[in-house]
Amino acid sequence: MNFNFANERPADADAIIFAISNDGLTNFELSLEQADTVKSAAKAARFEGKLGEVFETFVTEKTKVLRVILTGLGKGKTLDIESAGGSAIAKILTSGTKHAIIDPSGLDEEDLAYLLFGAKLRSWRHDKYRTTMPEKQKVTLDTITVADQHIATAKAWQDLSAVADGVALTRELVAEPANAIYPESFVARCEELKALGVEFTVLGWDEMEKLGMGALLGVSQGSARPPRLLAMRWDGTNSAQKTPLALVGKGVTFDTGGISLKPGAGMEEMKWDMGGAGAVAGTMKALAGRKAKVHVVGVCGLVENMPDGKAQRPGDVVTSMNGQTIEVINTDAEGRLVLCDAMHWTQETFKPDVLIDLATLTGAMIISLGNEYAGCFSNDDDLAEDLIDAGKDSGDPVWQLPIGPAYDKLINSPIADMKNVGPRGAGSITAAQFLKRFVKDGVKWAHLDIAGMVWADKPGPVWEKGATGYGVRLLNQYVADHFED
Ligand code: BES
Ligand code: MN
Ligand code: ZN
Repeated sequence: MNFNFANERPADADAIIFAISNDGLTNFELSLEQADTVKSAAKAARFEGKLGEVFETFVTEKTKVLRVILTGLGKGKTLDIESAGGSAIAKILTSGTKHAIIDPSGLDEEDLAYLLFGAKLRSWRHDKYRTTMPEKQKVTLDTITVADQHIATAKAWQDLSAVADGVALTRELVAEPANAIYPESFVARCEELKALGVEFTVLGWDEMEKLGMGALLGVSQGSARPPRLLAMRWDGTNSAQKTPLALVGKGVTFDTGGISLKPGAGMEEMKWDMGGAGAVAGTMKALAGRKAKVHVVGVCGLVENMPDGKAQRPGDVVTSMNGQTIEVINTDAEGRLVLCDAMHWTQETFKPDVLIDLATLTGAMIISLGNEYAGCFSNDDDLAEDLIDAGKDSGDPVWQLPIGPAYDKLINSPIADMKNVGPRGAGSITAAQFLKRFVKDGVKWAHLDIAGMVWADKPGPVWEKGATGYGVRLLNQYVADHFED
């Protein structure tokens, strides 16, 4: 989607969008030749400017047919405005309209930036493999002209536009199939972040073996695709923030379950088992893209979990980088094996005070919270609270679940320091307890189980069905609230 900014309405535009609050249309200055007719029609259709309402009609303007879209802002909180931008774009994306104007009336600079943010987020699609798509399903909208030139350079829009670019990267990584995105190509796809000033460290099998990452490599050993540990560091503070905030993502580029093979039905979904790493990469792009005043490192543990003659077996004991031994009861509980080494290495290398990991870790998470909230597990209630707040403000919601010693002991093993699965109950919590055993004293840690959030079977306010880009808006908000003034 191209975004243009011009004070004049372009002559070739075939649609115009107005954002209407729930004060309604009566006092809204609708700058159209047939304003009164449109207002009457909207009233007849019972359009009130409520959140989610979209009204469409056609008028003749300067002898040309123009599609008019009214999108309801509700109470007009920033998140509502973002959704309103999304709803308007969803309505016209494949409608035949090619060039839409966004009228800024009634919106201040920040509101308008959020409306455009929603529009940009909602216009993202992944149609590249659909070569014979029916005409009517194809995106027709290719240009949005904002009838306010000065917003082009406004900081609010520049920042949000960078965040939308980060979300788009996450979605692309998540949406791409596992023959396109595997550990090496994941790294290659992220390399564009170097141009934004992000510093890369990439470890391969041999380096990880020397470091003793037996847990991560145990998962990788059944795959023909070599593993990667990717660290991306951004310092926007001129070294003022000594140690970085650490983000660690599960990047299982495909999860067959390994020898504990998953059932065939639905297995294709496990192409998005790298959603945590995808969110980390997208967040790094967002933060570097808007030159955020934060020092942050994003670490992605990238492996493929395959069954093979070389694959690890149930019952194998592996030794993680910090020396703890793990009995691998189930090779399908692989995410925690990847994360424990990635998290330990991150703490050794970067000495963070705060570490947040993101992972599509457990199916049990979807049983608990469905597709509405990510689960949050933390050793620090203030950190959990901060993430919950950031979730409310950003539109990536978070819900806290408990951890504690009674759950922790469920993963004790009779033959090793721990086993990689607990009993049937509280599967998401025992997974979190496993990770907690790799958090160093003094480090504030939160684990976000995003299994239910990275993929959507139906469209949302600012995403098409498919990859949602969950996590980028959340972490961007968290950083803005707690690391920038
Ligand atoms: N990647 C899956 C979790 C998952 C399942 C995410 C479905 C999204 C949708 C993870 O690696 C896994 O397989 N977890 C197992 C753990 C079990 C063996 C203890 C699970 O949830 O079944
Ligand atoms: Mn698994
Ligand atoms: Zn997995």
